Amino acid sequence: MPKVTFLGHAAVLLEGTQSTLVIDPFLTGNPSATVGPEALVPDLVVLTHAHGDHWGDTLALAGKGATVVSTYEIAVYAEKHGAQAFAMNIGGRYVFPGGWLKFYPAWHSSSFPDGTYGGMPMGVVIELDGKKIYHAGDTALFSDMRLIGEEGLDVALLPIGDTFTMGPDDALAALELLKPKKVVPIHYNTFPVIEQDGASFAARAAERGVEGIALAPGESLQI
Ligand code: NI
Ligand code: MN
Repeated sequence: MPKVTFLGHAAVLLEGTQSTLVIDPFLTGNPSATVGPEALVPDLVVLTHAHGDHWGDTLALAGKGATVVSTYEIAVYAEKHGAQAFAMNIGGRYVFPGGWLKFYPAWHSSSFPDGTYGGMPMGVVIELDGKKIYHAGDTALFSDMRLIGEEGLDVALLPIGDTFTMGPDDALAALELLKPKKVVPIHYNTFPVIEQDGASFAARAAERGVEGIALAPGESLQI
């Protein structure tokens, strides 16, 4: 039973029996984070895109032995900064002990804080110990989410903050396409411009037959 821990903003820790992954580890400077990079020793750092609120503490975690898995552009950037990285792109699958991950498109943009191009923004489906988790990255609603739903998702981690990504109404519409068993809202309440009511979103998801779980930063879900 893999454990999913919301670390605040879009940062998520996945712990399986054989592998530990962290997605978009923005912890330092994240006002909602309850732990810093010193608390984590992941095997993989999975990045959906290069924006500072996702790239975050990637190099600190790579310095402890984690491999960075992301776009070609992000992998090259990470390697230039001394990290071990594996370069991929949308559509590709990466196999690791206890599971695999596959990148899907996201409708967004992707550049590093210094302006370097980060390649395509992505979402990612991760199978860990037989459970499938979708982290949408930063994205608008798009109809090809229906194809992602065909993976058979146990949990979807969806942005609801609005302004930079889907807001709650579009994230609810996404549930019709993704058809996950559970949904966890992310990418909200970190900053005033993305304030949303996670509990209200979870209740509205339940009305649509999807178990909504608004995790506070630091809280976990066993799936
Ligand atoms: Ni972004
Ligand atoms: Mn973001």
